[in-house]
Amino acid sequence: MQEELVTEKSSGKSVAGAFRGSPLTGPATKAVPIGQIEPKAEKRVPTRLAELDRVLGGGLVPGSGMLIAGEPGIGKSTLLLQTAQRISAQGARFLYVTGEESAAQVRLRSDRIGKAGDELYLLAECDLERIEDQIAAVRPAVVGIDSIQTVRWAEVPSSAGGVTQVREVTARLLALARREGFPLLLVGHVTKDGGVAGPRVLEHMVDGVLQFEGERGQPLRILRGIKNRFGSTQEVGIFEMRGDGLAEISNPSKLLLGERRSDAPGSATAAILEGSRPLLVEVQALVSPASHGTAARKVSGLDASRLSMLAAVFEKRLGLPFGERDIHANVVGGVKMSSTAGDLALAAALLSSLHDKPVPANCVFIGEVGLLGEVRAVPGMGERLEEARRLGFRSAAVPAGSIPKNTVPEVQIHEISDVGQLGRKIRADG
Ligand code: TYD
Ligand code: MG
Repeated sequence: MQEELVTEKSSGKSVAGAFRGSPLTGPATKAVPIGQIEPKAEKRVPTRLAELDRVLGGGLVPGSGMLIAGEPGIGKSTLLLQTAQRISAQGARFLYVTGEESAAQVRLRSDRIGKAGDELYLLAECDLERIEDQIAAVRPAVVGIDSIQTVRWAEVPSSAGGVTQVREVTARLLALARREGFPLLLVGHVTKDGGVAGPRVLEHMVDGVLQFEGERGQPLRILRGIKNRFGSTQEVGIFEMRGDGLAEISNPSKLLLGERRSDAPGSATAAILEGSRPLLVEVQALVSPASHGTAARKVSGLDASRLSMLAAVFEKRLGLPFGERDIHANVVGGVKMSSTAGDLALAAALLSSLHDKPVPANCVFIGEVGLLGEVRAVPGMGERLEEARRLGFRSAAVPAGSIPKNTVPEVQIHEISDVGQLGRKIRADG
């Protein structure tokens, strides 16, 4: 079991700054006119994990500190270890500090998931000063700490994992990375119920935060840049957790739609955007007579309030009996559908289940549904349609007037102006 974060009160003052020889107080610097500054671009260290490099913006920046945050068990240690393997395989020295597992355990895992170069160094240590000593002795090109919550600095009078410890230890390590010029990767746990005290206090200290997300029991993992001083936060990296580690997924839509049964009522395909990446996902709905008087609403992978809103719109605008039905709705594959662009697919799945008619095969649904039942435009239509075409979809239900006719010629466009029209279409075509 991973340790829980201990929340504690802190004065907010930096303990680190109070010690002599602290790396936080480097030599004095002078203000200079901007024109006299050499505009040198940082030379990055590519990790050669394409999905990670994409999120980083091309590789690790020397002297920077990146936080890999995620729930326990999501795959942070695996990602760090695979990064260490790839970097060391290029001949660059990677120091992997583990405070959670023994060096032998990490070695075993490393053998199972890939190949480590001679330049991958392991250190099983929790004491900050000993870690610093080893960094000085080994002189690594990149340092990874798994996890920041296990590291303790003896000078700080509180337990490892507490807010003060985590903050002081991070400040020290970041300053060392900046001074020595090595990229620093920190693993940080966040808890499911939003108990993100540790990594949250770190967000403003580090140069970037990469959030590793996924559903338990599902193989799909999404690495999201939620802060990045050296790259775009519009990029996401997509992986699949397999028996032999994380595999990079360049065609996630195919993985997500793999088990779709297009002839079954209650299923519709949405085209959502993850960062700037279009992703096709299957939205499922099951509408059944309420079993216990009040209608139940159960969702997974989508916003419950969006479902309630759609049910209310159907009831009010189309006179459909959703108020007295139980509704289960689900996005397949562990993706969270957070934007309203998936409304039209959810609406189609709901109507399809209610009428017990499958939606037209090979049709993708894109659009937001408003309170009046109107179907509204969403951004990125071209990218979404192109992804649909790539996956073999040949028709698309889209908001009326949202797209010029021949944007993606292979995909036939059906303009839908409101949910009434959608309902008629599903009843007629199914
Ligand atoms: P891990 O990287 O230890 O997660 P974290 O560091 O975020 O806590 O990975 C945890 C889970 O991943 C573990 O429950 C088993 C699974 N896993 C695989 O399925 N395949 C693998 O090759 C590895 C290394 C882990
Ligand atoms: Mg771990």
